[in-house]
Amino acid sequence: MLPFATVEKYNAGVPRYTSYPTANHFHDKVTSETYKELLNNLPEDEEISLYLHIPFCKQMCWYCGCNTRIVSKYEPISNYAKTLATEIELISSYIGRKQKVSHIQWGGGTPTYLSSSDFEFLFTKIRNKFEVLDKAEISVEIDPRTLTEEKVKTLAKVGVNRASLGVQDFDIAVQKAINRIQSYEQTKQTVDWLRENGIESINFDLIYGLPLQTLDSIKKSVKLTKKLGANRVALFGYAHVPWFKSHQKVLEKHHLPTPKERYEMFNTATDAFIEEGYTPIGIDHFAMADDTLTKALNNKTLQRNFQGYTVDSSQTLIGLGASSISCLPEGFIQNSPSTKSYENSINNGLLAVERGIKVSKEDTFNRAIIEQLMCYFSVDLKEISEKHSFDISYLNNAIEKLTHLEKDGFIKINGYNITITEQGKPLTRVVCSCFDTFWQAKDGQHAQAV
Ligand SMILES: C[S@@+](CC[C@H](N)C(=O)[O-])C[C@H]1O[C@@H](n2cnc3c(N)ncnc32)[C@H](O)[C@@H]1O
Ligand code: SF4
Repeated sequence: MLPFATVEKYNAGVPRYTSYPTANHFHDKVTSETYKELLNNLPEDEEISLYLHIPFCKQMCWYCGCNTRIVSKYEPISNYAKTLATEIELISSYIGRKQKVSHIQWGGGTPTYLSSSDFEFLFTKIRNKFEVLDKAEISVEIDPRTLTEEKVKTLAKVGVNRASLGVQDFDIAVQKAINRIQSYEQTKQTVDWLRENGIESINFDLIYGLPLQTLDSIKKSVKLTKKLGANRVALFGYAHVPWFKSHQKVLEKHHLPTPKERYEMFNTATDAFIEEGYTPIGIDHFAMADDTLTKALNNKTLQRNFQGYTVDSSQTLIGLGASSISCLPEGFIQNSPSTKSYENSINNGLLAVERGIKVSKEDTFNRAIIEQLMCYFSVDLKEISEKHSFDISYLNNAIEKLTHLEKDGFIKINGYNITITEQGKPLTRVVCSCFDTFWQAKDGQHAQAV
C-alpha cells in the first residue's frame, strides 16, 4: 500500500463513471421529441434491457444517496405502479413493436415495497408489451428488513433469478448510527428464502466509510458475507453529499472516517475478500469464481452501466419510473426525478423527459477508453483509436495529464499502453478523468475519489 500522502493530492471529487458523459452534463435541450426519435431509431432485432425505479422506502437510512422518499401508506405506491404500467405502454408504442428484452432490473428505493399483486400486474404488462427472452436475467434490489416469504414466492413466480440485498455493515453500533438495524438472522433468512425458491444468484451491497466502522468490523462483515454465500458483492465508498441529501447531516455528529481511514478500510476489505476466495472486479465489486461477473472479466466481456459492473452487453437500456436514466446508442435520457411531475406527464399521455444528452463520435470514443480502464485497469490507446477511427494525436492532451500519475507510480505507460498499477487502483477514477473532456476540477460536486 502506498503512503496515503502520495494518494491524498489526487483525492478530488471525481465522477463514478457509471455513464459517459456523466449525468451532471445532461441538459434540458434534450426533450421528449429527442427521446421519441431515439426510440424510433432502435434496431429491430436488438436485445434491450429495462430498468424500473421504485422510489419508496419505509424508513430513511441516514447515509442514503438514492432517489427515494419515505411513505407509510400503500396508496402512493399503488398509484405509482399504475403510472409505471402506462409508461411501459407509452414507450412500447414509440418503439412500435414487441422489442426483445434480455435484462430487467428493479431498483430503488425499495422495489420489494411493491405488493405481490402489483409485481404481477407490472410483469404481465412488461410481457405483453415486450418479448422477454427465456434467457433473460431478471434482478431485484431487496431490503431484507421488509421482505416476506410470500413476496419471495411472487418474485420467483414472475421469473426473478437474481437478487441484490442491501446489507451495508453487520455491526450493530454502525447500524444504529446509520438508522438501519438489520440483524444477521434477518439477512440469513432472506438468503435462505431466496435459495429455497430457486433464486440462486445473490448480491450483497456493503459500504465502507460509515461512522463507527473499524478495520475489524469491516473484516467481520466480509467474513459474514462469505458465510452467507453471497455470489457477488458491491463495496461502495460512502458518498457524503449533504448539499444534495440533507438527511446525511445527521451522520456529522459522529466522526466520519477521514480519506486516509477510508483508504485503509477499502484496502482491508479488498484483502479480506481475496482471502475469502472472491475475485476483485473493477473498482468496487467482488465475485466468486463461478459467478457470471468473474467469467465476464476473464472473457473480456465485462461492462459498466448505471447499475455498476454488469454482464449486460445491450447497447440500449430503457429506464422507467421517476429519475430513471435511459441509455441508447445515440444518447442518454433522464426522466423527471420528482415523482409528482413524472406522474403528471405520464398520466397525461406524455413522456416524462427532464434532460439528457446526445452523444457525439468523440464521446463514444472517450467512453470506450474510460470503460476499458474502469473494467480492466488498462487500455491500448493505439488499438482503441484505430477501432474508433481517431488519430492518436487526439489523445495528446490526455497523455500529458497522465505523466504526473506515472511519476507517482499510479500508472505505467508503455508506448501507447496505459496500465493502472496495484497502488493506483484506488485512483482509477482520477485516471479516467484525464480522458473526460467535460470534466474540470471545478465541476466538483462529486464524492471524493478515495
Ligand atoms: C437502492 S439501495 C438497495 C436496496 C434497498 N433500498 C436497501 O437499501 O436495502 C442501493 C444501494 O446503494 C448504496 N448506497 C446508498 N446510498 C449510498 C451512499 N450515500 N454512498 C454509497 N453507497 C450508497 C447502498 O449500498 C444500497 O444498498
Ligand atoms: S439505502 Fe435503501 S432502504 Fe435505505 S433509504 Fe436508501 S433506498 Fe431506502
